[in-house]
Amino acid sequence: MSDPNTRRQPLSPRARRGLLGALLVLLPLAPAELQRGRARTSPRVATLSAEEAASVLRALRTHVPEELASALESPTFATQWVEWARRHDARIRARLVRGEEDSLVNFLLFGTSFTRHPRVTVKDVEALAHRAMTEQELSERVGQLLRGRLEDLLTALAAPGRNERLLFLEQLLRRQGYDPRSATDRPRLRAYVLLLLARALQEQRALAHAAREAERIATPAEEFLLRSTLYRTRGLSLDTSLWPNFALEEALKALHARGHLPARSVRTVAVIGPGLDFTDKQEGFDVYPIQTLQPFALVDVLRRLELADASALRVYALDLSERVIEHLRRARQRAQRGLGYTIHLPLDPEIPWRPEALSFWERFGTAIGTPTTPVRVPPELASLRRRAIRVHPDVVRSVIPVNANIVLQHVELPAHQQFDLIIATNIFVYYDTVEQSLAMKNIERMLRPGGFLLSNNALPELPVTRLRSIGYSTTVYSDRPKDGDHIVWYQRLADDR
Ligand SMILES: C[S@@+](CC[C@H](N)C(=O)[O-])C[C@H]1O[C@@H](n2cnc3c(N)ncnc32)[C@H](O)[C@@H]1O
Repeated sequence: MSDPNTRRQPLSPRARRGLLGALLVLLPLAPAELQRGRARTSPRVATLSAEEAASVLRALRTHVPEELASALESPTFATQWVEWARRHDARIRARLVRGEEDSLVNFLLFGTSFTRHPRVTVKDVEALAHRAMTEQELSERVGQLLRGRLEDLLTALAAPGRNERLLFLEQLLRRQGYDPRSATDRPRLRAYVLLLLARALQEQRALAHAAREAERIATPAEEFLLRSTLYRTRGLSLDTSLWPNFALEEALKALHARGHLPARSVRTVAVIGPGLDFTDKQEGFDVYPIQTLQPFALVDVLRRLELADASALRVYALDLSERVIEHLRRARQRAQRGLGYTIHLPLDPEIPWRPEALSFWERFGTAIGTPTTPVRVPPELASLRRRAIRVHPDVVRSVIPVNANIVLQHVELPAHQQFDLIIATNIFVYYDTVEQSLAMKNIERMLRPGGFLLSNNALPELPVTRLRSIGYSTTVYSDRPKDGDHIVWYQRLADDR
């Protein structure tokens, strides 16, 4: 039999010259083409294996869902795990809708882009929420307080124009069965928004009560533990703000000072749940486009502290909200065309910020972009201090969005590409101990031995999971009560430990 290779005709010198010429023409394009090719290849997302899930559930013993506990020693556990994981993934993702409904409520209370009526302050809302009353009474009181804003919001939703937040909310409302553009649907919609408000206020009341109880009965360490699952039944919020990134900077500085993170040792990192700055619960500004902060903040901090080699750093952004993933995808597409990404940084001067926090705000972004003109604000926000940063396109391109649910899934990576660092702030507080334990196993799968997970929650450290806390740092943002974060440093043990 003839070898197919030997059947090839040798190229004539003329043909060879032609081919070489063509290669030379094409070569300058190659790096960009290759880069684009790389950007298209999404990493593979895998569900935790039945074997790993079983090891976690056995170690937990208590609180394991009955259907899994009873199947744990059965030969059919693997099939049941796959089924349960699929159903639970859907249950978790369904919580995003409630989170978006909470964003609608915050927008109604604090937004300035759809109304001239004054913002309703946290103090006003708290005063209402703390008065004992039925849901119906509460929604009527809130209705009185917010009548003008509510009508303005309904009017704006009927003709959202290009207002990104209104378009976002329109999608939510349509999914929930309302047509905000229809006049006949308006009374139904009004009642729905009022009920959401009442629900949000009652939830806040219950959460404040639980937090006070935790403070009353527990030591500070126990309180931190109790607070770490506080939102386990809430809707999954997308909100984000600048400040956890300051706490992460302090944690990274401390890790470096203790010799855990040598200079330029960080190459691949992951942000779990970067979120979207829609209308924050505390300050709630909506005068600039919806933005995400954490992936860019992390690059900024790692570059400024010289912990990463700027050209080699890659950032994976894992989130289960398609809104977040799509936002990052669009930013990447614009960056492929050479366009940067603008981050707006409003600062309320009436808050008694700590000097270190102010200095973080002032230096934010210097390693990833250039200052640009901040957006104009309406008169009622005229006292705000403002900065804006135009993030360079190469930084935006280094962020790879991946839709994954960290409770059940991880990104499959070859050993040499495992993460040096994973950050996850304001994520695990939405989950119970079983879910957090499964998430820790998924994180273990993605971290290289010796790598770090930084989180502002106290997380379960099961013997079957190779992640151990080795310390923590505390960062205070302002002199307001409890305005700060503890960041716990979890290190991935070597495989033989
Ligand atoms: C409250 S925001 C926090 C944003 C940011 N990390 C911060 O601290 O400001 C929570 C984010 O985590 C995402 N998230 C919640 N549960 C998740 C999960 N199981 N897997 C991946 N992302 C999750 C949400 O979609 C949202 O983007």
